[in-house]
Amino acid sequence: MATHRLGIIMHGITGRMGLNQHLVRSIVAIRREGGVALPNGDRVMPDPILVGRNPERVAAIAREHGIERSTGDLDAALKNRDDTVFFDAATTQMRADLVTRAIEAGKHIYCEKPISDSLAKALAAARLAKSRGIKHGVVQDKLFLPGLRKMRMLRDAGFFGRLFAVRGEFGYWVFEGDWGQAAQRPSWNYKKAEGGGIILDMLCHWRYVLDHVFAPVKAVSCMGATHIPSRVDEQGRSYAADVDDAAYATFELEGGAIAHINCSWCVRVRRDDLVTFQADGTHGSAVAGLTRCWTQHRVNTPRPVWNPDVPQTLNFFDQWEEVPENITYDNGFKIQWEDYIRHVVADTPWKHDLVEGAKGVQLAELGLKSWAERRWLDVPKLEI
Ligand SMILES: NC(=O)c1ccc[n+]([C@@H]2O[C@H](COP(=O)([O-])OP(=O)(O)OC[C@H]3O[C@@H](n4cnc5c(N)ncnc54)[C@H](O)[C@@H]3O)[C@@H](O)[C@H]2O)c1
Repeated sequence: MATHRLGIIMHGITGRMGLNQHLVRSIVAIRREGGVALPNGDRVMPDPILVGRNPERVAAIAREHGIERSTGDLDAALKNRDDTVFFDAATTQMRADLVTRAIEAGKHIYCEKPISDSLAKALAAARLAKSRGIKHGVVQDKLFLPGLRKMRMLRDAGFFGRLFAVRGEFGYWVFEGDWGQAAQRPSWNYKKAEGGGIILDMLCHWRYVLDHVFAPVKAVSCMGATHIPSRVDEQGRSYAADVDDAAYATFELEGGAIAHINCSWCVRVRRDDLVTFQADGTHGSAVAGLTRCWTQHRVNTPRPVWNPDVPQTLNFFDQWEEVPENITYDNGFKIQWEDYIRHVVADTPWKHDLVEGAKGVQLAELGLKSWAERRWLDVPKLEI
């Protein structure tokens, strides 16, 4: 049994996602466990070099997590032939250019979503990656959530019968920042010029969730809104929030099911989780949150009677049966990293490539267009 080194250039690891999910919960955890196991029993040990604008800051993060290498010089990092993978979790707007530079330097690519803020750039990056024959991937973390894995198991087991509707509720209150509570998301999320907006942020997730957990998306109708037009940034300065902070989107799926997903950073939560999906079929319904999933089969469906004259006697939440935790669910970002590393080193199968990433950007762009033009839009097949 041999252990192979894999040099990974990690960019954007001072940010929320880069630091918590990709560095600490994934790469550092994988290193602590002795690397990733390959099908032949060998192991791969990731050897990251952390890259950022502020070399002192990335050096401090590296030290804190037992990582030997860090730098402020991305060009030099890309020139090092011993580091064969480039990963990016910095801002959306920078991504396509960074990814393009890294592909041109001959690196394999793995990156956060969305892979770009425009479909044209996303397609160009996907085409370049394919033409150079490198391994490429995009984060599709929601597919690895225990709640959605259980939902998909129900679909594959035939639990729903004919699936006809999906309802998604995503969101929570993001503080405005001006009355004693700091905002809990970065201010660029609320600025058009900096790649913000909930439609661009979330519709790329819903593309792969709908495609792979329920059925492929055929058409979209979306209405966005800016419910909170003024917010306060990290420095305490007031700014105009000029992008959508909520979106109300309906999707037509192959096979005839209709999906409707509400996304909002201006909603107070009274439901099972920060995101929930309800799927309804002829034989049963299910509701999934991030980790848990509940079912109601046709034979267990109660018979509610509409009567506005008496307070509700039924507790509807009690009428569902929970899908048991029969397996251990690891962190979804880590599972996807492990799959990606196996794909790079041992050429194992991999679905989450930049073409999939471009499909997400396509749906976000169509959602924005649908809102602007107030109409339904078909989702055409991408020509790569
Ligand atoms: N998969 C998910 O569930 C998920 C969730 C949130 C965000 N994201 C994506 O992750 C990315 C980062 O989001 P975040 O919430 O972590 O943002 P963030 O603001 O916390 O982090 C942004 C990172 O980019 C770096 N950066 C910003 N401007 C830069 C510049 N000019 N040069 C070099 N580096 C620069 C910052 O230093 C930081 O490391 C976005 O593309 C976002 O869409 C994905």
